[in-house]
Amino acid sequence: DEIVKYQKDLLDWFESCRETRGMPWRKRYDPELSMEEKGQRAYEIWVSEVMLQQTQVATVIAYWKRWIEKWPTIADLAKADVEEVNAMWRGLGYYRRARSLLAGAKTVMSKSKYQGRLPDDPAVMEKEIDGVGRYTAGAICSMAYGVRTPIVDGNIHRLLTRLLAVHAPQTSPSTIKFLWTSAETLVNELPEEKGIAGDWNQALMELGSQVCKPVSPDCGSCPLRKECKAYSELSKPPPTPQEPI
Ligand code: ADE
Repeated sequence: DEIVKYQKDLLDWFESCRETRGMPWRKRYDPELSMEEKGQRAYEIWVSEVMLQQTQVATVIAYWKRWIEKWPTIADLAKADVEEVNAMWRGLGYYRRARSLLAGAKTVMSKSKYQGRLPDDPAVMEKEIDGVGRYTAGAICSMAYGVRTPIVDGNIHRLLTRLLAVHAPQTSPSTIKFLWTSAETLVNELPEEKGIAGDWNQALMELGSQVCKPVSPDCGSCPLRKECKAYSELSKPPPTPQEPI
């Protein structure tokens, strides 16, 4: 019940700001869309997520628009050559990302089992599509296909370590595992129909990047302040030192 309540608080908060950063690939999940239309969104989200791996949103928007204009579908991209793709990537750096997009598009278009679209199973996507890791697979599958699957990026990592007051070493394998498991529990407990998973994941990223910032987090405007363990620890009196025997 507690979880359901704060999930609603976060989803409501995200509703109020989902348009503010002008991300053209951020579209509302619609279960009524055909698989073909969802596949098209998966392609658009994939391009954005790969660009966003090492580049800020404000820069990515213009690159993303030019890319989608040149290669409107994954089938168009599969026919491109590496020089064209590199030219389009110019200024973004880490060109390996551009080559992965091209290779992934070729993979999808070369086998009939894909039916011309990215897989909607995150494990399959991670295994078979170039350059796609657990985060990217989860982001695409939850946002484009409405799959209930968690994501943990840098922003969500920080947000969850605060929300749950994780004091263990932040980057240890056991902490990382704990955070993925926590993110999975949260996405699985979402009350409404499965399309909300993509919104939920984006809401966590948005809160992490805009409010629960690395330095000076804006706790005063956080919709999860009341549930945040780190916040409550801040306002607790320090423990009384023990007397030596
Ligand atoms: N960073 C990467 N993808 C994002 C998304 N969909 N929303 C907010 N921040 C992001």
